[in-house]
Amino acid sequence: MQQLTVELGDRSYPIYIGSGLLGQRELFTPHIGGKQVCVVTDDTVSPLYLDALCRTLEGYQLISVVLPTGEAYKNWATLQQIFDTLLTARHDRRTTLIALGGGVIGDMTGFAAACYQRGVDFIQVPTTLLSQVDSSVGGKTGINHPAGKNMLGAFYQPKAVIIDTASLATLPAREVSAGLAEVIKYGLIRDAAFLAWLEDNMRGLRNLEAALVTEAVARSCAIKADVVAADEREGGVRAILNLGHTFGHAIEAHQGYGQWLHGEAVGAGMAMALDLSRRLGWIDTAAAERGIALIGEAGLPVRSPASMAAEDFIDLMAVDKKVLDGQLRLVLLKALGEAVVTAEFDSAALHETLAQGQS
Ligand SMILES: NC(=O)c1ccc[n+]([C@@H]2O[C@H](COP(=O)([O-])OP(=O)(O)OC[C@H]3O[C@@H](n4cnc5c(N)ncnc54)[C@H](O)[C@@H]3O)[C@@H](O)[C@H]2O)c1
Ligand SMILES: [Zn+2]
Repeated sequence: MQQLTVELGDRSYPIYIGSGLLGQRELFTPHIGGKQVCVVTDDTVSPLYLDALCRTLEGYQLISVVLPTGEAYKNWATLQQIFDTLLTARHDRRTTLIALGGGVIGDMTGFAAACYQRGVDFIQVPTTLLSQVDSSVGGKTGINHPAGKNMLGAFYQPKAVIIDTASLATLPAREVSAGLAEVIKYGLIRDAAFLAWLEDNMRGLRNLEAALVTEAVARSCAIKADVVAADEREGGVRAILNLGHTFGHAIEAHQGYGQWLHGEAVGAGMAMALDLSRRLGWIDTAAAERGIALIGEAGLPVRSPASMAAEDFIDLMAVDKKVLDGQLRLVLLKALGEAVVTAEFDSAALHETLAQGQS
């Protein structure tokens, strides 16, 4: 097992990474303050892993909420089901919520924990590659609004992140690729050596070779933990974690949540960020092509949907959180492994990038 720490003073917390951790009671108990525990999961993950987790937590006053699966349900109505269950079972302020599932479950459970009785403890048990390398770490929680992704939410840190890499065995290949988008993101923004390692090992990663997956998860979590520790509430450097996301969120919203997977939209969005960085002359053609090739090798789209015009992007990006004081800010690359957040870019170049959809 590997262990990392997200350093946030008295709100610091551990990330445990290893195979079979779902069955290790001693990893959970130090992070559960009271007797009541509520596991939140979805109807895809529950038949796979809920029983195992419940066995691990025997002895607690344990309840579970099984939500409908998917991004389309990351909304108020679904969130309400968590509160209804907690209140019906009379869970009090010492209850601990456990998010068992992908990023949708993690984001919703974290937001529920932030709101319930003005804040209760929660633990992340991410079961998709995307949630293991990204969404479970860093304390961004929330839900979608029809007008935009993650428009309602809170910064709220978990007490622990328990990553059982064995749970990836049941994950569909398309979801593995989606998770690899965020893994590639860390290489592009922060770590050229990691990017080269990914180029060497992409095939093995897609086949979920255990040692490679553990390494990729640990290196990704280390970068995320580092960035979050430096800038928890995204006043500065944390924004680089949004590479490809301003474009990607627009794709997700335009296609309808759940049509393009988040990671797929981010894959295409990062390819667009590479393309724009090249058009601006910040990286050369070879570097852009290298990054785009790696995204493609992960099984991800490298162009926006054919049905999306440049104007669709402009409209949707205007509601994105990266717009500050009416100015669109984008994460772009100065080199492979070095990202910048900037509002200084030529709008003609942006327009050309936006008009490059799939043909
Ligand atoms: N909070 C953050 O910092 C942050 C960062 C990145 C992404 N996100 C959010 O995360 C969400 C995407 O997360 P995701 O990609 O995990 O999606 P997801 O939660 O929808 O999970 C993807 C699918 O895999 C299924 N699944 C989960 N674990 C499984 C397993 N072990 N075996 C088989 N199937 C399994 C789920 O039921 C679902 O159908 C988006 O809503 C995105 O906004 C948040
Ligand atoms: Zn993301």
